[in-house]
Amino acid sequence: MTNDKNFYGLLAEFEDPTALCKGAERVRDAGYKNWDCHTPFPVHGLDDCMGVKFTRLPWIVLTMGLIGLATGVWLQWWTNSVDYAYDISGKPVWSLPANVPVIFEVTVLFSAFTAFFAMWGINGLPRWYHPLFRKNSFAKATDDGFFLAIEAKDPNFALGRTGDFLNTIGAKQVEEVREADEPTGLPGNVKAKLWITAGVMLIPIGMVYQTWDSTTTQPRVHIVKDMDKQDRFRAQGETSFFEDGRMSRSQITGTVAEGQFYEDESFVTGKDGDSHIAALPASLTVDEEFLAEGKKNFEIFCGLCHGNTGAGDGPIHERAAMLAAQGEAKWVQPTDLNGVRIVGMEDGKIFDTITNGLNTMPAYGGQIPAQKRWAIIAYMRALQAEYGEEGPSADELAAMTPVERGELVLNQQGCMACHTTNGSPLVGPTFQGYAGSDIKLTTGETVKGDLAYLTESLREPLAKTREGAIPGAMVPFPNITDEQIADLFEYLSTLK
Ligand code: HEC
Ligand code: HEC
Repeated sequence: MTNDKNFYGLLAEFEDPTALCKGAERVRDAGYKNWDCHTPFPVHGLDDCMGVKFTRLPWIVLTMGLIGLATGVWLQWWTNSVDYAYDISGKPVWSLPANVPVIFEVTVLFSAFTAFFAMWGINGLPRWYHPLFRKNSFAKATDDGFFLAIEAKDPNFALGRTGDFLNTIGAKQVEEVREADEPTGLPGNVKAKLWITAGVMLIPIGMVYQTWDSTTTQPRVHIVKDMDKQDRFRAQGETSFFEDGRMSRSQITGTVAEGQFYEDESFVTGKDGDSHIAALPASLTVDEEFLAEGKKNFEIFCGLCHGNTGAGDGPIHERAAMLAAQGEAKWVQPTDLNGVRIVGMEDGKIFDTITNGLNTMPAYGGQIPAQKRWAIIAYMRALQAEYGEEGPSADELAAMTPVERGELVLNQQGCMACHTTNGSPLVGPTFQGYAGSDIKLTTGETVKGDLAYLTESLREPLAKTREGAIPGAMVPFPNITDEQIADLFEYLSTLK
């Protein structure tokens, strides 16, 4: 060691690779640590002579790779099952196989970056300038010079002794190397270029921030148009091409589209004119095969919600009701298909519901061919024969009080799927305290919960909507008679 800060070390030149190798062995055995050899070409065996140990880079890469692996596992476990657990069809929120690709990627990412940066770090890079280049003779290191340099910062270094030592081990010439007196930083023009590059790199970040921090009513800029914008006619679009200005063309009078010819119109609509047909179209025969087909399709398409017996308790309902109870969803219970209302419903009306859906029930017209939709209805009727409710006879009804009859209507018509009598609202408002109460509507007006409003709510549920309620969630009940509504009101009046 020396006290001269600018003193870098000693540079010794050797005659040839053999001499250098021999010299290196001696330096190695003398216990020097901070030294190196410089040759114009790779010299075989030189690393042995120098006692260069195998690089520790692989261990660093392995360690960081394992950390990457652990990070990948942790990241996905935490995001998927702790921070944002998301139930997809009841699949487990955390399962290893699904996460292997990302874990693999993160492992490779950590390893690759570590290999790159650790290599630089171990080699002391980046280094813009090396003091050895201050010696003109060192230029021969790219031609025919074989050099060995010992740094002054080596603990064994002592100027006179080390110089003599180099001479004794066969050095041709030994020179002292000094750092420049002035500290040598980056050349001015390189610095300027780096500043400019850094400045330019801020522009995209600034643009991202600007977009992120502002709102606009303009459509987004389409750099790659993909198929977002095409010249085409859209369903409800306008065009100057046709006289009536519409893009959608209605079917030409007197023509039939392929596959859409039905001799019996009601077979595909369930309607005869404006009214629903009461029974299955005459062209169908209900036999065992037909019912079996109905059963199969009922269980595929309807059972999930309505339950395989039609009671309105299918697995989708169970799950949705569970989420609704936790306040995470709103859910209307699928109708009990064996209730008196559906038992009394025309086949054509049920067909219409399957074809076009109803509120939260999806339309199945596009998925189930008409013939199979009828088969489903035939099977529903069979279920009703098995599970359907039988109401009290006319005599029994006459013997009941209006309040009792009203309660029966409420239960038979399935009102309790959406309403309650105990004060806690479900999909619809509770009936407790309904009669005579002031009900605030979405329009800001107030109506009285009287018989007239009850009648209107059942005949035309869309006419008025209570503030905060889901509009349109309630279906009309045209088959409930005025007498039944009166009984119902009597019953509701008892719910104080
Ligand atoms: C995604 C769940 C779901 C599926 C699947 C489903 N329904 Fe429904 N269905 C409902 C719900 C919910 C209602 C109640 C809608 C309302 O009253 O707002 C309903 C109501 C009905 C009604 C009563 C209509 C009325 O006027 O009150 C009938 C009949 C019916 N569904 C039949 C079927 C048949 C047949 C299938 C199979 C083709 C089926 N549903 C499939 C959810 C479903
Ligand atoms: C499919 C779910 C559903 C069924 C079944 C249902 N309702 Fe409703 N009902 C609602 C919803 C939702 C509202 C609130 C929307 C509105 O006010 O229009 C409502 C509103 C009402 C209102 C108006 C109450 C108010 O405070 O504004 C009355 C009365 C009513 N229902 C009675 C009945 C009766 C009686 C039955 C059975 C014959 C029934 N509902 C069946 C969902 C349902």
